[in-house]
This record gives sequence, structure tokens and C-alpha cells, in this order.
Amino acid sequence: LANMTLADATMTEPAATTPRRVPTTRTVLMCRPDHFTVSYRINPWMHPEDPTDTSLAVRQWQTLHDLYVELGFDVHLIDPEPGLPDMVYAANGGFVLDGIAYGASFTYPQRQPEGPAYMDWFRANGFDVREPAHVNEGEGDFLLVGDVILAGTGFRSATPSHEELAAIYGREVVSLTLIDPHFYHLDTAIAVLDSAGGPDSVAYLPSAFDERSLEVLRERYPDAILVNDADASVLGLNSFSDGYNVVIAARAVDFERQLRERGFNPIGVDLSELLLGGGGVKCCTLELRR
Ligand code: ARG
Repeated sequence: LANMTLADATMTEPAATTPRRVPTTRTVLMCRPDHFTVSYRINPWMHPEDPTDTSLAVRQWQTLHDLYVELGFDVHLIDPEPGLPDMVYAANGGFVLDGIAYGASFTYPQRQPEGPAYMDWFRANGFDVREPAHVNEGEGDFLLVGDVILAGTGFRSATPSHEELAAIYGREVVSLTLIDPHFYHLDTAIAVLDSAGGPDSVAYLPSAFDERSLEVLRERYPDAILVNDADASVLGLNSFSDGYNVVIAARAVDFERQLRERGFNPIGVDLSELLLGGGGVKCCTLELRR
């Protein structure tokens, strides 16, 4: 070592190699926003006094749908129901794993009829439906990472639903507490990038969590991508990954850069109209796992 020149020393340390990411085909459920509008306010993004453009929402949603088809996903559709403007946010319709669909039980009365509507679809499509005993908003708050289910609480899903999840799926459920009303669902504050569940499997917004939850996240995912406020405020984290392609909000430019550096293929889409309801890419996507 004593004889080593500076050049030798730097050469012994190769540039960090980008991991090779492998896509796996996903099966998802979506709901066309035919009845989308903002007629009530149940999160800080919603302004019922401002106009919305339903046909623009449908066009933007269609782009996301067609992209999923192009990526080789198996895309299923549930019929939108009049009077349920938030039904487009399919992620809240339940949590589906091992062929079992744990139904949603919504926090606010305006969305409560969506619970049974989604459960009917799951039943009709061969899933083993479990009626929820506790308030929960499905994959909005429950995210599978490896063999662990991360479960959000603080604004919507109640903690007893986390115990219900653990009992149904026999998986470890890790409760995380959200503290910023703009990031009221777990899928607005954490993105699952790699379903293998390794130390770099997620991206998150640190300021969205309480101190205890942050400690859990730092310990489990020491190599996580940390997203900045600007990207989080266009719901950049509300994204959907197949392990290689990560569909994100087009305006989340720093997140896009970080994803590229980590070997992912970020693909930006514009869902500005659906952002008026407080939702993005992931909110419009419910993963179906048989
Ligand atoms: N307006 C809806 C609500 O507040 C938006 C839901 C967004 N969905 C999500 N998975 N984060 O309930």
C-alpha cells in the first residue's frame, strides 16, 4: 500500500455499479374517471369551488391505461358509478394478495359506497373476499414490500385494520404514522420500487412521517431514495413500478433523476386533472395478486 500512487488508489475503487433491474408483469385494476369531479373536500388538495374537466381527466387516465398495456400489464376495469367521483382512485378499493381481497371501509361517508362496489367486482372475478371490520382504504395505505406489508395510519386507515391484515395474510405488518395532511395515504408518501424488499426497495418523503416511523424506515431501507418536497408536492411518490419501469408524475424531475441513477426506467405521465382530487398514478392503480 505504501508504494501505491494516488492514481492507483482511485482506480482500485470502481465507480458504484448501477444494479440491473428486472421488470415483472403486473395485473392491475383501474376505473375510468367518467364521473370524476371535485364536489366535496376530504383532503387539502380538493377545492370543490374550482372547476374540473372530466373529459381531460378521462384523456389523461387513458394515457396511463394505454402505457400499462404497452408495458405488458394485464389491465382489468371496474365500471365507474355515477355519484362516486373518487372511484377512479382504484387503489383505495381494497388490498389484494394471495387471491384474497380484503375489502375497504372508507373513512368519509362520501366514499363509503365504493367499498361494496369493489367487493362485488372482486367476488365476480374469483377473489376470496374478506369483509373489513375496521376502517381502511386498501392499497392507499397498505403496500407490499417483499414479504412485509407496510401499513399507514394517521388520517384514514385505523390501526385495528393493520391487525386484521396480519391475521388474514399471515404476513408481518409494519405500522407507519403519517403526520402531514397533504400526504394522508401511505401511497402518497412512499413508493415501492422493487417488490423484492431489499434495502433500496422504496422511496419516501421523510417529513410525512412521525419520528418512530422514520426510525423504522431508516432501519429497514437504509438505501432508500429520499424525495424532496417539490417532487412530493406533485405527488411524485404516488407512482407504480414493475421492478424496472417506474411510472411517475412527469413533473417529479429530481425523483426521475434519482431513479435513473439507481438503474430504473422512470416514465413520466401527466395526471394534472386527477391531482385536483388529491390522487396520482398509484391512486389510479390497484394491484391484483393471485
Ligand atoms: N379524493 C380522494 C380521497 O381523498 C383521493 C384518493 C387518492 N388515492 C390514493 N390512493 N392516495 O380519498
